[in-house]
Amino acid sequence: MSVEIKTLRLFFALWPDEAVRASLAQLVEALKRTNRARWVKPENLHITLAFLGRVSEDRLPLVSRVADGIVGQSFDLSLDRVECWQKSGIICLSPIRTPETLINLASTLITELSRAGFVMEKRPCRPHLTLARKGHLDCISPQVLDHPIRWDVGSFSLIESQMSRVGSTYLVWNSWNLSRFKAIPGGSYVR
Ligand code: 2AM
Repeated sequence: MSVEIKTLRLFFALWPDEAVRASLAQLVEALKRTNRARWVKPENLHITLAFLGRVSEDRLPLVSRVADGIVGQSFDLSLDRVECWQKSGIICLSPIRTPETLINLASTLITELSRAGFVMEKRPCRPHLTLARKGHLDCISPQVLDHPIRWDVGSFSLIESQMSRVGSTYLVWNSWNLSRFKAIPGGSYVR
């Protein structure tokens, strides 16, 4: 008798705290008045760091062990630019200047997950927060926010995405704190 193992659609992300999420919701509300795109629900907004895709449930402990071994630093993120990415069919919010610590965190996660045997997509790292997807997407001209959304990023999370006819629901499986100490130049990010 074969036992069916459940799979989960997983990814690592920066998951906004309540204050940041409230600012993001306000921004989406304002943008909604100008564009009929399919706007992401405020509770779903996030920045993907590493996308695992479908993973069998019995590999969850391994995913967690990889995350346990990541030593990343906390950082300040200023989300200041809204623009349309035609190729991916999204409207997104991104930093004009991406902190090196964010790039290091994403690339370390991808490297360590690959080393643990997960097949990771090698998309160029362009951290962004998807605000709207295709639908009736009229591309908007890029705009720099007068009041950028500031985010003191102190953790990263493992998220499960459940997709259904009514859209996606995201569940936070676990979160890992980032160190408040400064990085040693050239220091390792893996425990
Ligand atoms: P997106 O916001 O640019 O669409 C859940 O689907 C999250 O994982 C989304 O943030 C999505 O990015 C990202 N994602 C989906 N498929 C992906 C892939 N193949 N590679 C990297 N990220 C992906």
